[in-house]
Amino acid sequence: MQLTIIGFGKMGEALARGMLHAELIAPGELVLADVAVERLGVVTQELDVRVTSDNALAVRDSDVVIFAVKPSLVAPVAREIAAALRPGAIILSIAAGITLRQLAMAFNRADLVLARAMPNTPCLVRAGAIGLSMAAGAGAEATQMVCRLLSAVGMVESVPEAQLDAVTGLSGSGPAYIAVLIEALADGGVLAGLSRHQAERLAAQTVLGTARLILETGQHPAQVKDAVASPGGTTIAGLAALEAGGLRHALIAAVHAAADRARELSGE
Ligand SMILES: NC(=O)c1ccc[n+]([C@@H]2O[C@H](COP(=O)([O-])OP(=O)(O)OC[C@H]3O[C@@H](n4cnc5c(N)ncnc54)[C@H](OP(=O)(O)O)[C@@H]3O)[C@@H](O)[C@H]2O)c1
Repeated sequence: MQLTIIGFGKMGEALARGMLHAELIAPGELVLADVAVERLGVVTQELDVRVTSDNALAVRDSDVVIFAVKPSLVAPVAREIAAALRPGAIILSIAAGITLRQLAMAFNRADLVLARAMPNTPCLVRAGAIGLSMAAGAGAEATQMVCRLLSAVGMVESVPEAQLDAVTGLSGSGPAYIAVLIEALADGGVLAGLSRHQAERLAAQTVLGTARLILETGQHPAQVKDAVASPGGTTIAGLAALEAGGLRHALIAAVHAAADRARELSGE
């Protein structure tokens, strides 16, 4: 297989490193294309992959092309490479807000398999949450291939494209909400007498551990909560304070507001 990543920024690098680390591709199968040639030069020695600043050349023999450039560059780069793509090539865009319809218009070729994904920043540590939508007509083989590649940097959930804005509002923007949560928990720890450093570590590990507990045991979040809240104990006192502060409502409203904004920005 030949795979090209166009745009070797934060996400492009995370995807390249994740896929190589998971041995989903060999270095000889990967081409990286970016305008920042000097930066690519440093990376090519470390990763032993081919690099170029010529996007059309980069995709010529590729079975899969991942678009990891800024959203405003998707259409111009698509037009730049459209004629060079192999028939049946899979094009996966991770550009926020660029719809499958806009992608199809930019490529103007009916023989490509188009896909759109919404990753999040924990992909940088291979713990991402990724929403994936394949264009109508994409076969099972192409879908499986894209899921496999993305799984190198996180958990992949397939959703209809209409739900990608909801994915943006939840897991795309989610790292910001959780970072605020961790910061606030740490503040609470400091208020209760812990050092800032220890409070931050304990707060972050509590979020990580609770998430793993839910994902790995399949327990409902309410079960995890109830297991810690003994009658008349410390946790139920803390939970009562949380409810008084309206945390649940604030989080629901945050996801809803971000999903609405994603819908507005994509202009569809
Ligand atoms: N970061 C996130 O959390 C996140 C989450 C979800 C989705 N996304 C999406 O992922 C995409 C990439 O985001 P990012 O944060 O990785 O951006 P980034 O760090 O800015 O990476 C984009 C890279 O593309 C390069 N580039 C610019 N013009 C190019 C061209 N004509 N041909 C090839 N490469 C070109 C940029 O070089 P220069 O810097 O020199 O311009 C940069 O290295 C975006 O569309 C974004 O919406 C990102």
